Amino acid sequence: MLEIAPLPPDRRDNFADPIFAIMQIALPDSWNLATLRNLLLQPTCVGCIAKTDRMMIGFLLAQKVDDQLEILSFAVLPQNRRLGIGREMLGWLLRYGCDTGCREIFLDVAADNAAAMALYQSGGFAIYDRRPQYYIRKKGRIDAILMKRSV
Ligand SMILES: CC(C)(COP(=O)(O)OP(=O)(O)OC[C@H]1O[C@@H](n2cnc3c(N)ncnc32)[C@H](O)[C@@H]1OP(=O)(O)O)[C@@H](O)C(=O)NCCC(=O)NCCS
Repeated sequence: MLEIAPLPPDRRDNFADPIFAIMQIALPDSWNLATLRNLLLQPTCVGCIAKTDRMMIGFLLAQKVDDQLEILSFAVLPQNRRLGIGREMLGWLLRYGCDTGCREIFLDVAADNAAAMALYQSGGFAIYDRRPQYYIRKKGRIDAILMKRSV
């Protein structure tokens, strides 16, 4: 059975290793373990994980500053995609934002990431800007698409 569980504020860094394991598969150009651990230790960090009875299969990490939430990292294991798990985690963040008085949720996404853009658009996010050549990849630089939605 699928469960979406918030990261416990006092023990977020306990989740560094399993989140990093998913990152290495789903976001291989992303952060190293030390950067992830450091983020999890920040008081502004919020997030949730998706898990089955057996294992963690996804995560969403964001930061809350005043009444704004920014999605920082978000992934579902490849074998568990297109089952609505990403949408469930976005729904969790929206409810969290509502419950804590947030006004907007922001994110940036690589211009070549059609799956994530489709998910965000179906979740009510709209494009408001573009940052040229923002992401550095082995194959070259890719624009960042900036998206937001109100809570
Ligand atoms: C983006 C990601 C988190 C989506 O997770 P997911 O659990 O597969 O998403 P969902 O099943 O909830 O999809 C919800 C909707 O998003 C859209 N969507 C998701 N994946 C899609 C794809 N590959 N192609 C087109 N649309 C897609 C669809 O509208 C989908 O609804 P539908 O299945 O009813 O058509 C997942 O693809 C992933 O981990 N990608 C690699 C990491 C990544 O890119 N993270 C985001 C960084 S900004």
